[in-house]
Amino acid sequence: MVCNKNKLAFITGASRGLGKNLALTMLENNWEVHGFARSEIKITHPCFTAKSKDLSRPDKLKEIFTETRKNLNDYKSIVLVNNAGTISPTGPLEQLKPEQISVLINLNLTTPLLLMGEFGRLTGNLKNITRTIINISSGAGKHPYQGWVPYCTSKAGIDMATEAFALEQGEEGIKIISFSPGVMDTKMQSQIRNLKPEIFPSKNRFLELKRQNLLSSPIKIAKYLLNKLEQQSFEQGAITTY
Ligand SMILES: NC(=O)c1ccc[n+]([C@@H]2O[C@H](COP(=O)([O-])OP(=O)(O)OC[C@H]3O[C@@H](n4cnc5c(N)ncnc54)[C@H](OP(=O)(O)O)[C@@H]3O)[C@@H](O)[C@H]2O)c1
Repeated sequence: MVCNKNKLAFITGASRGLGKNLALTMLENNWEVHGFARSEIKITHPCFTAKSKDLSRPDKLKEIFTETRKNLNDYKSIVLVNNAGTISPTGPLEQLKPEQISVLINLNLTTPLLLMGEFGRLTGNLKNITRTIINISSGAGKHPYQGWVPYCTSKAGIDMATEAFALEQGEEGIKIISFSPGVMDTKMQSQIRNLKPEIFPSKNRFLELKRQNLLSSPIKIAKYLLNKLEQQSFEQGAITTY
């Protein structure tokens, strides 16, 4: 199978959860997809390229896009999805180790910022191509949770980064949105349900959502998001939710 040279996606955190489901959904819809994660990405498709990267090491990410795809002029639409994220470390801030906080902030905030900049440098002149950045955010960027200070901070930061970058780009530049996927049935949610109630007092809410089968499947969210992307049905810089 030859990939049609129309639609190109870079997705971080493509080894499981929302990122993997988005990659699969896009491949089904004739996108060429380049996925990044630390572990093996179990997707076999002629239009998929996997790249092993620790995205909590922003110092190692120079030329991350051109390593996998040299010529971006050929496409009609190019998207970067900043999806990789972690909830850890959790617990009272004074008990968290500085290096663990740094890993979370690097992965959830610094790397997305660097990738937004790199994407801007690479595609800045490609005015005839639809260029989009989707930052995966969270309700925790708006609603504070006890025990999640670094995570909430990172997601509030990514929302502000989206809004400020949108101002820089204006209506003619790269389109950018933040998207909160709601509560999805992924490994991150099982990690949340396993937190000790003394460090995460809201744990019962998440246990109850699971018990009542109210978690969204990541494939459903991926399809919703792809439709939004393909229709370009969002305002520049919008902070959106599922
Ligand atoms: N699940 C929810 O209910 C929920 C709700 C709101 C927002 N979100 C957001 O949605 C996004 C996806 O979450 P998810 O639920 O799909 O999480 P997940 O199942 O835990 O998947 C996280 C992905 O990020 C990658 N990742 C983690 N650390 C990495 C690192 N250091 N370097 C490279 N990749 C790394 C993982 O790959 P490797 O481990 O292989 O590296 C994996 O592919 C996150 O930004 C999350 O904050 C999730």
